[in-house]
Amino acid sequence: MKWVRLDIELPKDDFVTMIKLDGKKLCLVKHQNKLHVLQNSCPHAGGLLSGGWCKSGNIICPIHRYEYNLETGKGAAGQNDYIDVYPTEEREDGIYVGLPDGFWKRLFS
Ligand code: FES
Repeated sequence: MKWVRLDIELPKDDFVTMIKLDGKKLCLVKHQNKLHVLQNSCPHAGGLLSGGWCKSGNIICPIHRYEYNLETGKGAAGQNDYIDVYPTEEREDGIYVGLPDGFWKRLFS
């Protein structure tokens, strides 16, 4: 696992936004005072989850409103899909996101 430092100023309130990390786009969420890093592309039809919103611990895709659990990435009942979620870790010098080795190679091969 490769740990990459988040190099952005985090707002105090909850938010959903797109970030570039290690040169790639991911969805960064703060929901109920907890950070989550998710894949940005919705597996249903490619909507951008960073344009969505959170409800009851799920990210809601803005296109067709599919829902994915922020902790596990699991899709709501009946969707039979999931999104990738990445661990975060608070350290003395900032917040780090854990990306699997070969992460981008796996995504784009
Ligand atoms: S593209 Fe996300 S729900 Fe359809």
